[in-house]
Parts: sequence; C-alpha cells; structure tokens
Amino acid sequence: MFRFRSIVAVSVLALSVSLAGSAMAQTVLNFGHTTAQNSHYSMGVQAFAKKISELSDGKFEVREQAAGALGGERDLIEGLQIGSIELVISSTGPLGNFAPETLVLDLPFLFKDYEAARSILDGEIGDELLAKVSENNLVALAWSENGFRHITNSKHAINTPADLQGLKIRTMENAVHIEAFTAAGASPTPMAFPEVFAALQQQVIDGQENPIPVITSANMWEVQDHLTLTGHVYSPGIILASPSLWETLSEEEKGWFEEAADVAVAATRKKVEEDEAGGVDKLRGHGMEVIEKVDVDAFREAVGPAYKTFIAKHGDDMLTRIQDAQ
Ligand code: PAF
Repeated sequence: MFRFRSIVAVSVLALSVSLAGSAMAQTVLNFGHTTAQNSHYSMGVQAFAKKISELSDGKFEVREQAAGALGGERDLIEGLQIGSIELVISSTGPLGNFAPETLVLDLPFLFKDYEAARSILDGEIGDELLAKVSENNLVALAWSENGFRHITNSKHAINTPADLQGLKIRTMENAVHIEAFTAAGASPTPMAFPEVFAALQQQVIDGQENPIPVITSANMWEVQDHLTLTGHVYSPGIILASPSLWETLSEEEKGWFEEAADVAVAATRKKVEEDEAGGVDKLRGHGMEVIEKVDVDAFREAVGPAYKTFIAKHGDDMLTRIQDAQ
C-alpha cells in the first residue's frame, strides 16, 4: 500500500511538472555564426534572442552558437537546408553558391559607403535579393552587416596592388572574390573562416581580408603584423532561418521573427559603427602597422577584370541598378 501511494505521489508530481512544462512549452532555437562571442554578429544574435523571447512570452529560446561551434558559413547554410540548425547570420561569402543572384553584392568597390549600402539593402533591391535567396530552401529574414573589408598580412606593408604579388591571401569561398584577388596578382586561398586563424599562425597563408569588427574580435594582431585599409568590398550580413522551423510557425509568429531580425540588424550595425570608430586604434595599440592612405583607384583598377567576368556570366542589370541607386 505504502509503495502504491508513493508511486501515485511520484506520478502526480511528474505529471504536474510536465503540465507546468507544457504551459510554458519552450522551443529552443540554435542560432549559429562564425565570429567571436560579443562580436557584431553576436550582438545581433543576443538582441534577437531578447526580442523573440519578449514577443513570444518565453516560448522561443535562442541559443547562440558562436565562433564556428557548428561549422563554417557554408556548413551553417547547409544546416538550415537540412533542418539541423534553425537560425544563422552569415556573410554573403558562400551565399552565391546557393543563390547566384547575390554574387553581385560581392563585387569590389560596388558600394560607395555604409549609408549607400544600408539604404540599398533595406530597400526594394535588398527585398528582391532576399526573395531570391528564399527560393533556395532557405528563409531570408533581413540583410545585416559585416562591414567594409581590409587586407592584413604577416609579410610586408601593402601600399599598392603590386605589393599583393604572390601573397597567399585567404578569401571567402566566393567566386567573385577569388577572381578579384587573382586579377590583382595575389594567390587567393579560399577557406572557411574557422580555419583561418590556425592557418595564419602556421603560416600556411600569409594574409586574409575582413572588416574591422572581424579583425578586432578575432585578435588578428596575434598572427598578422600589417593592415591596409583598402575597404575593397562591402560585406553584407544576412539573417536566415530554416524552412523546417518556418513551416511550424503561425503567421503571427513569423511576424515576431521578422521583427526580431530587424532588432538584430540594428544591434549589429551599432556594433559595426563602434568597432569602426575605435578598432584601428586598438589594432595599432596591439602593434599592427596600419596603412591608412590607400590609392583606392589603383586597387579598383587592379580588380577590374572581376567585373568583366561577372557581367559575362550574370549580366549587368542588377549591377547597374545598384550603381545608379547611389
Ligand atoms: O571572412 C569571412 O568568412 C567572413 O567575413 C566572416 C568572418 C565569417 C564573417 O561573416
């Protein structure tokens, strides 16, 4: 009898715990990215997590998977397609392999400044490109930001494109970037970002290129001595969701995710601005030599052939629209 009562008591307790649990049923969402905790992407993920939790009254709990914990950007995007991860913020680096329409954004010296890039990506052109991305078993929620990319290396100061000659520069896995660095005389080595620091440390490659928020948050000064502020390409970020998550959401919930994505974009852009304001001094403070005065026209000319190749393959409609919009 005693044993029977105890079993009933334990079962009632278990049932009430499970009922309490289902009243607050939580859906845990993994949100992956490849930059460091507290980087610009991380700020966006944290803002997203807070907003979606508020809007859903705690139903959706976001777990940040930072610093490539779930792989490089290509792996993360594939993870969305197979439903092994729910949310991702990525650069456009590998995106062109999934949605070739976005490759136009990777053309060097396309956007004249942050203001132009943001207003174009937040407008009609940006919306059209998001829709194209969503045709590829992905849900594109918003354009976010990585920043204008600059070159670092461990060999020598890069003052002119001629200084790139023969340097092994890690690029993203992106056809336009590979073409541009080849045209400029470097030896581009495409590689996923989580492998880059070790490759630089072991001197398998001489340099890499990334925006200030990435160079600072990845402690690049530990393995790179020279930074040249080429600003050779604006690197957008994009917030993506998995279709397998999306199809489980009600219309109202989808609206919450879109709202949270906008809040995330604002937080990431704010951090990009802070890093742009203080990052170069920080890098100098850590001993990097920074070349600020750059002959941008010489670099633009050196990467020019990438435009020809791009237009031959993809036409120039979207390119012209972006150029005309700034
Ligand atoms: O260099 C890259 O691959 C990207 O800029 C990074 C650092 C993963 C951020 O999107």
